[in-house]
Amino acid sequence: MCGIVGYIGNKEAFFVIIKGLKLLEYRGYDSAGVALQNGTLEVYKKKGKVAELEAFVMEQKHDGAIGIGHTRWATHGEPNDMNAHPHTSMHGLFTIVHNGIIENYAKLKTDLTEQGYVFSSQTDTEVLANLIEFIYRQDEAINAEMAVQLALSKVVGAYGIAVLCSAENDKMIVARKGSPLVVGLGNGEYFVASDASPIIEFTNQVVYLNDEDIAVIKRDSFTLKNVRNTPVSLKISHLNLEIGELEKGGFEHFMLKEIHEQPRTIEETFRGRLRSDESEIVLGGLINIFPKIVKAERIIIIGCGTSWHAALIGEYLLEEYAQIPVEVEYASEFRYRKPVIRPTDVVILISQSGETADTLAALHLAKEKGATVLGICNVVGSTLARETDAGVFTHAGVEIGVASTKAFTAQVTVLTMFALKLARERKTISAEDYSLLVRELSQIPEKGRLILQSNDKIKAIAEKYKDAVNALYLGRGYLFPVALEGALKLKEISYIHAEGYAAGEMKHGPIALVDDNLPVIVVAPQDDYYEKIVSNIQEVKARRGNVIAIVTEGDKVLKEMVTDFIEIPASHPAVAPLLTVIPLQLLAYHIALMKGCNVDQPRNLAKSVTVE
Ligand code: M6R
Repeated sequence: MCGIVGYIGNKEAFFVIIKGLKLLEYRGYDSAGVALQNGTLEVYKKKGKVAELEAFVMEQKHDGAIGIGHTRWATHGEPNDMNAHPHTSMHGLFTIVHNGIIENYAKLKTDLTEQGYVFSSQTDTEVLANLIEFIYRQDEAINAEMAVQLALSKVVGAYGIAVLCSAENDKMIVARKGSPLVVGLGNGEYFVASDASPIIEFTNQVVYLNDEDIAVIKRDSFTLKNVRNTPVSLKISHLNLEIGELEKGGFEHFMLKEIHEQPRTIEETFRGRLRSDESEIVLGGLINIFPKIVKAERIIIIGCGTSWHAALIGEYLLEEYAQIPVEVEYASEFRYRKPVIRPTDVVILISQSGETADTLAALHLAKEKGATVLGICNVVGSTLARETDAGVFTHAGVEIGVASTKAFTAQVTVLTMFALKLARERKTISAEDYSLLVRELSQIPEKGRLILQSNDKIKAIAEKYKDAVNALYLGRGYLFPVALEGALKLKEISYIHAEGYAAGEMKHGPIALVDDNLPVIVVAPQDDYYEKIVSNIQEVKARRGNVIAIVTEGDKVLKEMVTDFIEIPASHPAVAPLLTVIPLQLLAYHIALMKGCNVDQPRNLAKSVTVE
């Protein structure tokens, strides 16, 4: 939610910031703004995309070697020019960009209003800007960083901020709590961003700020401490990111690129972990902690959105093969519902970004209760990766499309390896089944490539159903979460109302929706549930519903029975989610494109949900 970029050095800050904001636009795209320091502080902000801001600022004075920028996902106040960041304090002393939510903003605003402050936006961020200024003006001995520090001590909520002070115009102050911030260390220059993508072009040396860190950055110095004034040791990390990963690589959209990358990214996920001789699965990040995991009495898997769907697949895998009780939780529910968590529990947090606020809160709760906390995460250096006891990176590469695709298949790949390894250690899987599943998993990339060749056929099916108002997705067993994921993909990028259901549940309600206008997408490969799902399809057909089925290659029965079908290669049911989800991703992509939707940046969404 919201992307921040800052620059201090000798380059023209505007160009560094605009380029960076475009890379962070996945975090929010309601409005964008920039503040540039060059003797005076110029602030430009606009509703809409970064490109609109860029065109606007190009016609203005935009020099200056210090600046901050922001791309917004609106929380407080509708998306308009006034609510866009940066926000400047009433007397013009402080200008800030902010990612997060100041929860006690209303009380702070009332207090400041009593002190004569007048507000021009509806944002919580303007309150923070004025609070910093109010404190600064109380006492000449208080400098800009002290004012920021004192203001933050009064704030309840989450923030990643970059602050400029017009009276101390050689520095930038940055701080974080709950919202990510990375500082890139250049030669006589520093870069600040919500993630490392805007920084990699300039330097691969970065410092990830921890919660409550505050840094004062000048051209020639970088000092870091804690908002409570305790010293913090500087840990420099090296980025391992290719600039090419941030480009579309010849595809029309990032989402399409990321769908097509899956055979390779799944390979990356199991590279070096899934041994070709099938002898052992090596999950390096878990080696030291594995004896504890083996003894766990229960596993709780937590995530949001697509990551939650991956968690459900993890539950099925772990219960079937490792025979360990598993519970799957929405992070947003878990964190508040006072769950029972014991020190003998292993809690697995799944998050592509590693920055989802609810997931991080669930992590903190589980840690507090003494559970062993593990992460399955895509972003190296993210908060989740740093705060869990141990974990496994998914290695899917940067995912830019807001609709998650390759991150999902990478998460499921990790969960499959984890379940098999645990099953092996707990001696709950036979040697034959273990070898079979390892082999099946290693064949997924090749089979995935074959499915991608159906793109044109899926496009033709999309053309037939693009005007649907509703859609129903059905699956059973391992493919029930795939039905949920297919429905989520369709609704988030095409704005068609879609529901995913366990096929056996259809008769308990959703069947009432079935008529000749309703596309019913059924994930129906030839597995143990095949006969049952064929019956479900018959039930839909009897009510004149249109069935689009994902079927196993060569399935003559379903090809005859359904309105449209997409074939996939045969696979073991436990790895079938990795294949069956691909046609559903492509179907959603083509429908959204045909409806003229912004596939990579769907309305109202943001890639990284760092607010509650
Ligand atoms: O970064 P995370 O995996 O924690 O994100 C969780 C959800 O916000 C995310 O999966 C969201 O549902 C996607 N837009 C789904 O495509």
